[in-house]
Amino acid sequence: MPTIAVLPGDGIGPEVTACALKVLERVRPDCDYVTCSVGADAIRKFGDPYPPQTEAVVKRSVGILFGAVGGTEFDGKPVQERPEWALFRLRKENDLYANIRPVRIFESLENASSLKPELVRGLDLIVLRELTSGLYFGRKETKIVDGVETAIDTLYYNAKEIERIARFGFELARGRNKRLTSVDKLNVLETSRLWRKIVIEVAKDYPDVALEHMLVDNAAMQLVRDPKRFDVMVTENTFGDILSDEAAMLSGSIGNLPSASLGGDASADGGGRFGLYEPISGTAPDIAGQGIANPTAAILSAAMLVRYSLNDAANAKRIEEAVAATFRSGARTRDLAGTSTALGSAAFTEVVLSNL
Ligand code: IPM
Ligand code: MG
Repeated sequence: MPTIAVLPGDGIGPEVTACALKVLERVRPDCDYVTCSVGADAIRKFGDPYPPQTEAVVKRSVGILFGAVGGTEFDGKPVQERPEWALFRLRKENDLYANIRPVRIFESLENASSLKPELVRGLDLIVLRELTSGLYFGRKETKIVDGVETAIDTLYYNAKEIERIARFGFELARGRNKRLTSVDKLNVLETSRLWRKIVIEVAKDYPDVALEHMLVDNAAMQLVRDPKRFDVMVTENTFGDILSDEAAMLSGSIGNLPSASLGGDASADGGGRFGLYEPISGTAPDIAGQGIANPTAAILSAAMLVRYSLNDAANAKRIEEAVAATFRSGARTRDLAGTSTALGSAAFTEVVLSNL
């Protein structure tokens, strides 16, 4: 029986993860779902955001269903003592370098987008974010320089890290509309110069994919000017973090966007691969504990788990179609309800379950 590690974490994490777990248990009752503490919750209980007992379950799992981590009580603490450290360890230690963030819009939500319906109708793009290097993992330091408090983060990339994420991007694009946009800041950053050079080299292996390069500031603008021009966007860690939140709003709510973080060979498919699956939204402390959060991103993340780690495309599709049917029927959580009545997370999930 495959083990799935369930790490609900903090804020709305436990609420939306509970919804996703219900859906998973319905479509794949043959898995062993083991819930473990992570993030601020784990710091409070065990003094460690990623305690050894959680790590032990992760190690024997085929995939992780993750909620969210964070907490304002840790503001001011160095990153190693924050709840997010768990996420960074999970990403780095499992070498989950490829973070797939699909941005699609459900037909019935076209009017919920922050852009005009005609700009987002049929939108289907992927932000592919490098997840194990860059500013997040470069050397960090705070010290006094010439009597002034000074903080340093290091933006670091090596050629191998760039090559594998570029390859992943080309492979994804090859399976879709065969267009890849590589996003960098070539006019300013050394890392971007290396990035672009390597991407151009890798492109030689993918003559069937149209490659374009775009500066990150322009990419941010194009995302709200004409998002449908994009197919797959590949970019470094920090740019990908920012651009994916921006892209999420095109779908009507950040609560709609799932993600999968994968490792291994770019072209590997079939057989199931280890991965971490999480909503991109975070803890949403303003609405945590009220049972009103939109569980869509968590449920769609569960679908990605089923697809990539359980190698079960049929059930992944079943979940995605049930979510689409739920929106078609008019069911909405508060973030998308506008002036009409909103369902709580659990009630919304019941509709999804009935549509399965
Ligand atoms: C994300 C989140 C995380 C990140 C936070 C919670 C550290 O924003 O997954 O996009 O920046 O990677
Ligand atoms: Mg983010």
